[in-house]
Amino acid sequence: MKPQKNFPEEVYFNGKWVKHNEAYVSVFDRGFMLGDGIYEVTPFYDGKAFRLQEHLTRLQTCLEKVQIDFDASSLEDIMLQAISRAGLAKKDAAVYIQVSRGVAPRTHYYPEKIKPTLLLYAFPVNLKGFEDKKWQVLVSEDKRWHRCDIKSTALLANVMANEEAISKGFDENLLIRKGYFTEGSHTSIFFVKYGMVFTHPEDQNILAGITRRFIIELCAELGIKVKEKAVHVDELVEIDEIFLTGTTTQIIPVSTVTRRDKQVFSAKKDQITRKLQQVFIERTRERLHND
Ligand code: PDD
Repeated sequence: MKPQKNFPEEVYFNGKWVKHNEAYVSVFDRGFMLGDGIYEVTPFYDGKAFRLQEHLTRLQTCLEKVQIDFDASSLEDIMLQAISRAGLAKKDAAVYIQVSRGVAPRTHYYPEKIKPTLLLYAFPVNLKGFEDKKWQVLVSEDKRWHRCDIKSTALLANVMANEEAISKGFDENLLIRKGYFTEGSHTSIFFVKYGMVFTHPEDQNILAGITRRFIIELCAELGIKVKEKAVHVDELVEIDEIFLTGTTTQIIPVSTVTRRDKQVFSAKKDQITRKLQQVFIERTRERLHND
């Protein structure tokens, strides 16, 4: 069964806190009409933000890539307010932020002098126990556009892929473009081969995952070699471990991979994934004891 989600009690919408069912957007909002917007999701461990500046920097960079005139640095304080107003100051949570270009008569070009629409809210997330999970994943064609580095709210291709996976009983997709793995529908992918970690290079085919970057840093600290190089689907036979990363996913190992109704990978080892999970937990939680 698909997990049920709740609406947040209130949201920050264009400068005000309002009940979620009292926040309305114009039918001419370009986010609604054209998917013309950028979003960001930031994790909070026991109420404390993790890598907040990196999330705000990525949001600002993406806004600039699509020329939405909005200063993301003003959001930190509102994010903290969102967490405490939602009663999550000591809990695991995440903050969702969305900035659309704003309201204007429909055009394909960017309208001039319009005010971006801001939506921000906090929601509880269970960030504990991810190390006990294993995901069975489905290989799907990456049908997305050629600017996956932009964290656009236009997620239809990701949504279609993930719906296929979930409705068939899988947990996530491994997307392939011209036979090469790019990323998941909402996660970054890592492969382990001969003790070395491989992940798609940061380019326009993937999102520059904040968790992905953190894992690469952890590998460097642990003396695990990382190659930012795309893995081909035919190389799966040589792969020992696969794991997926993301803000709410954290690090989850892949147990099996299915492609065209055939199982094409079954995890042989888990040492590197386990080591990274252990250090990941220490690093995301240890700061809390030092505050
Ligand atoms: N998803 N790749 C894609 C396509 C994603 O949507 C995400 C995150 C990631 C991982 O990025 P990060 O480590 O910065 O969360 C990779 C978010 C959480 C979402 O859409 O809800």
